[in-house]
Amino acid sequence: MHAIVAVDLNYAIGHKGQMLYHLPEDLKHFARMTRGKTLVMGRATLESLPGGKPLKDRVNIVLTRNRDYQVQGALVLHSIKALAEHIAGLPGDEVMLIGGDSLYKALIDCCDKAYITKIDAVAEADSFFPNLDEKDNWELLSCTQTQEQNGLRFRFCEYINHRLTPLESL
Ligand SMILES: NC(=O)c1ccc[n+]([C@@H]2O[C@H](COP(=O)([O-])OP(=O)(O)OC[C@H]3O[C@@H](n4cnc5c(N)ncnc54)[C@H](OP(=O)(O)O)[C@@H]3O)[C@@H](O)[C@H]2O)c1
Repeated sequence: MHAIVAVDLNYAIGHKGQMLYHLPEDLKHFARMTRGKTLVMGRATLESLPGGKPLKDRVNIVLTRNRDYQVQGALVLHSIKALAEHIAGLPGDEVMLIGGDSLYKALIDCCDKAYITKIDAVAEADSFFPNLDEKDNWELLSCTQTQEQNGLRFRFCEYINHRLTPLESL
């Protein structure tokens, strides 16, 4: 599994159920990186998507503890164990963890790679991504040059995990 996220200087990712910044270039990057793949997300992240609907051209897996929760066009699972069973046969680079805060915290060390859009800004936030620079198993591999859009400076970075936690072990 690979993670993809957009963070600010505080590793903040969201506030009151929404994303912090609007960056069309990052949305394009997200589309490119996820199209045709299986996405794993928490129920709140699904509800933050446009219209609260699953993303097209991708398999959408939504985690919730609510057994009555249903959503058209998505596979609803109720535990990490069920997720592990479901994605067991898929190649690692075909499964993308797309958030939010709770799932990144629970599953980041089960990811081989993390694609992090780093935005040079700070905003009020209540949702965060783990700071991989503070985790000794993660290494920053590369970052693109800084770009600018909508007055925001950002770059696309890639991290690799040197000590993978098997999803089945959680
Ligand atoms: N910047 C980015 O790249 C980015 C990406 C994604 C999300 N976000 C932001 O992140 C925020 C949402 O994060 P969040 O932590 O509040 O929500 P979340 O992780 O998207 O969803 C949380 C929900 O997922 C379900 N869940 C979590 N762990 C589970 C488990 N082990 N088993 C079964 N269900 C489980 C629960 O649903 P139930 O309550 O239904 O049981 C839980 O309330 C939003 O502001 C969003 O915009 C930002």
